[in-house]
Amino acid sequence: STVYLNGEWLPLSEARISVLDRGFIFGDGVYEVIPVYRISERGVNVWRPFRIEHHLARLARSLAKIRINDPFNEVGWRALIEKAITLHAQQHADDANCLIYIQVTRGVAARAQVFPAHSTPTVMVMANSFTPPSALKREQGVAAVTALDERWLHCDIKSISLLGNVLMAQYAAERDALETIQLRNGELTEGSSSNIWVVKAGRLYAPPANHLILEGIRYRLFEELAAEAGITFEARPIPEAELRSADEILMSSASKEILPITRLDDRPVGAGRPGPVFAALYAGYQRAKE
Ligand code: PDD
Repeated sequence: STVYLNGEWLPLSEARISVLDRGFIFGDGVYEVIPVYRISERGVNVWRPFRIEHHLARLARSLAKIRINDPFNEVGWRALIEKAITLHAQQHADDANCLIYIQVTRGVAARAQVFPAHSTPTVMVMANSFTPPSALKREQGVAAVTALDERWLHCDIKSISLLGNVLMAQYAAERDALETIQLRNGELTEGSSSNIWVVKAGRLYAPPANHLILEGIRYRLFEELAAEAGITFEARPIPEAELRSADEILMSSASKEILPITRLDDRPVGAGRPGPVFAALYAGYQRAKE
């Protein structure tokens, strides 16, 4: 496949960065993951980036929060994404969907923690094949485990410094679970790479979108979808006991879309089956792709 790196489109195997890149040395950068769906419009295949304006707005916010000058405006980012999609569609004709990965670091400079006086951000864009979760996962639900959230206090930045998340993802994998649900001070925060939702008595709850979680692009979307489906949504702190006594637990992310978590720490969640709020939000999500 082909990647964009600092102004050039290159085969993946030829794309190189300096060992002094601050992304490599310090994890000093931010990223985005944008799903792209192939849909048929009047019999013609078109590739549609999902909620792209929200993803680009979040990228701009992440860059501003770590004080990297945004290397492109929205038009520039859209052009890069369109090109990545076109190349991917040419090279993988049978591939229906893809995920756009964007990474921006503070660039290359002699190794010193303080920001360099002059550096040019390193920009990388690539498209990867993407298959949404299987019907089996949606029908049976998936397993999650809980662990203490040991990350820093700026989880609202979509930072490439993901060590805490990586360790939590591995923690889940070693317990045959798909996700680790993190708790901080006895309250739900989020998964290692997803937002977590709780359903009780037909109402949908999520932790407030503050510095303790990444506000997923699906966060506002589910607010909208819940309203359309007549489901009351409330953002408020969720104590561990409410997580454990939930009727439904849901996870959401660019690549997982929405999945029902039917086992938590080896115990069934509610009835142990995907519930009606999952079904309503999943249906809304599929409609939103069109
Ligand atoms: N992860 N919280 C964390 C910590 C995440 O890493 C993600 C996404 C989310 C959900 O955000 P969104 O709905 O915008 O995908 C929440 C991406 C997919 C990743 O790291 O690959």
